[in-house]
Amino acid sequence: MTEEKFQKRIDREEKIEPKDWMPEGYRKHLIRQISQHAHSEIIGMQPEGNWISRAPSLRAKMILLAKVQDEAGHGLYLYSACETLGVSRQELVSQLHSGKAKYSSIFNYPTLSWADMGAIGWLVDGAAIVNQVSLQRTSFGPYSRGMVKICKEESFHQRQGYEIMAQMAQGTSEQKAMAQDALNRFWWPSIMMFGPNDSDSPRTGNAMKWKIKRKTNDELRQEFIDKTVNQAEIIGLTIPDKDLKWNDERQHYDFGEMDWDEFWSVVNGNGPCNKQRLNHHKKAHDDGQWVREAAKSYSQKKELIAN
Ligand SMILES: [Fe+2]
Ligand SMILES: [Fe+2]
Repeated sequence: MTEEKFQKRIDREEKIEPKDWMPEGYRKHLIRQISQHAHSEIIGMQPEGNWISRAPSLRAKMILLAKVQDEAGHGLYLYSACETLGVSRQELVSQLHSGKAKYSSIFNYPTLSWADMGAIGWLVDGAAIVNQVSLQRTSFGPYSRGMVKICKEESFHQRQGYEIMAQMAQGTSEQKAMAQDALNRFWWPSIMMFGPNDSDSPRTGNAMKWKIKRKTNDELRQEFIDKTVNQAEIIGLTIPDKDLKWNDERQHYDFGEMDWDEFWSVVNGNGPCNKQRLNHHKKAHDDGQWVREAAKSYSQKKELIAN
């Protein structure tokens, strides 16, 4: 099948399945995007895992534990979707360890207080939902179906985070200050999660043409800001952007310029926790070697018995 026929299928909104013909560029783009997404789910377990043993109540601990486990599940769906494109799990993990594959930079910031669990659920999962809702309609079948399942859980994540923020904002003045401080630290990194501005995003063109992405970085960022400003107001917290203002003409919020030097510095490995996150993953992976070996020999044994 030619590229032209492929594009016609995309334009007819047909889903592309793993065994279908696809241009190499499409396959490569998907492997990069889906694996980056999978790595983000898994690395994202670390900043929150940091607080499981210090949650302020049994209820809070159970909710956080369930949330972090959900993220492991998201990682697994996504690695599986990625493997259907002809790349092995082992290869994906080694790309993460060598730095060839990236994950979302938001997870390279430390979690300093319990309020950060609120800010992450509310803002980070909130930003993830905006992106993932649009990815439910992505053109690659396994990715699209994975997203449908993931989105249901993400909305629980966003709500549990917002509940923590709302509770702290209504608590003592120290608790409210902690909530505001978490918002101050996570706001800008959260809106940078959508990636560079469209004008600096060279791959957006192909991703839109192939309907891998349905909305551009800037469209998604605007959507997230528009829906989050109101939520901050309701719980009495202030978004740390002096340029944030409703624009009647555009029917959207205007907002300030992001610090792109910081963005690229964190992407390129110089964030506060890049090394820590990656080293922790490598150690956990090495420690799990015996589990992979045991699983493999068990399945070989079962096969032997079956034959
Ligand atoms: Fe997730
Ligand atoms: Fe999540």
